[in-house]
Amino acid sequence: MNASTNSELPIGIFDSGVGGLTVLKAIRDELPHENLVYLGDTARLPYGTKSPTSISRYATQATAKLKQQGIKLLVVACNTASAVALDALRAQMNRLPVIGVVEPGATAAVSARPGGSHLVLATEATVRLGAYRKAIESLDAAAIVREQACELMVALAEEGWTDGDIAASIIRRYLHEASENDFDTDSIILGCTHFPLLKESIRAIVSDRVLLVDSASTTATVVSQTLRSNGTLRASEADGSLRFLATDGATRFARVGGLFLGQQLSNSDVELIDL
Ligand code: DGL
Repeated sequence: MNASTNSELPIGIFDSGVGGLTVLKAIRDELPHENLVYLGDTARLPYGTKSPTSISRYATQATAKLKQQGIKLLVVACNTASAVALDALRAQMNRLPVIGVVEPGATAAVSARPGGSHLVLATEATVRLGAYRKAIESLDAAAIVREQACELMVALAEEGWTDGDIAASIIRRYLHEASENDFDTDSIILGCTHFPLLKESIRAIVSDRVLLVDSASTTATVVSQTLRSNGTLRASEADGSLRFLATDGATRFARVGGLFLGQQLSNSDVELIDL
């Protein structure tokens, strides 16, 4: 790859919907000069309840779109797509780096709590594939892992109901299921793009000694290290550009996306596309 040709190209970030904006925000905080293009496949959200075949097909189509736009690196911000299709997307992107969110999240948990027990909160598909379990166990043979599918927590975040009684009782119910047979955890991995929004509500329920791991910031660090080692960091000191692509519902994208991003978005910030 020729660094001088490619450093101006944007980083492509892909998610099934708006949740991956938590990852975009972390990348923006770490690398403010980078141009970013975000694709949310809002027409087909949620991926978490779909079959691996469908998820792979959707992820491949979204990747093709971003590749066609011209990007220097792809971030698969969706945990479900990372769990199901990362190898296929790496092959598709050829020599360009592809970074998923599962490995950075697993690495952060294992480094902070070596030999510890970890509870992974994720979508059905991510849990079914045991993606975090495999990643954690390959890093730390002594680790104990439990995975809990929490589909209603995706809906809570989508609705903006991230605090209050309803959020608390749904979170409590999932944590109760996950604590069966006296499972006591050292870390909780927020293994879904939407769950960082529920962090405060989870924090209020679990003991202070439990580490909450959000893979967004660790992923941003991996992105930064990769660009640095490839020599493809953008040279300009000017703020990078931001582009938002969605496959459906610009109004909803702007409304819910604003919550994830922590800044206001309007319809006109969102370009509707077909995959
Ligand atoms: N983006 C998905 C994830 O991180 C959550 C939403 C969905 O199911 O599509 O797993």
